[in-house]
Amino acid sequence: MSMSEDKTIAAKPFEILISRERIAERVAALGKQITSDYSSQSPVLLGVLKGCIAFLADLMRAIDLPLEVEFVSAASYRRGKQQEDNLLLGGPSPILLKNRPVLIVEGVVDSGRTVRAISNRVMREEPTSLEVVTLIDKPTSHRVELDVKYRGFTLGNEFVIGYGLDNTQKYRNLPYVGRMLDSQ
Ligand code: IMP
Ligand code: MG
Repeated sequence: MSMSEDKTIAAKPFEILISRERIAERVAALGKQITSDYSSQSPVLLGVLKGCIAFLADLMRAIDLPLEVEFVSAASYRRGKQQEDNLLLGGPSPILLKNRPVLIVEGVVDSGRTVRAISNRVMREEPTSLEVVTLIDKPTSHRVELDVKYRGFTLGNEFVIGYGLDNTQKYRNLPYVGRMLDSQ
């Protein structure tokens, strides 16, 4: 079987911004912090598809608590549309968030609109608490009021790929985070 050339970034001008070692270190630290902050609780990790996948898979194994994992999928925001109504909470089966501590797990927070919409939607379910954990936060790009309690890394407003983050659905499988350089 031959692999699509698009699966590898090796041939393209690319800069690694966050190595797999730095990611592993940060994820371990976040897992420890969450384990301690939620001791004797059973939080629900609510992963935001699809950018959360690599981060969530590693983060949940760094948390030593009886947690549960659920997902929410959010189409990218369209201007002028109420994103809260475009959310699929829990996929095909309904999930119960009432009286549960909920942690929204994101790959990247950019304008903050996605997480804002998900937070608003989750609050309708009356969780006991709600916090946001993201691998990457771009605070200078936020366009809505947002309280991100746990962040792996802070970046400027550059577009990055890898470790779950895509560019037109590709490169999620890169084990590090980086950016494509203009080839011209
Ligand atoms: P928001 O602007 O915070 O609502 O982010 C919307 C979505 O844009 C995120 O969930 C990602 O799917 C995508 N996104 C924003 N910045 C990046 C990036 O640097 N790389 C890959 N996807 C991004
Ligand atoms: Mg995307």
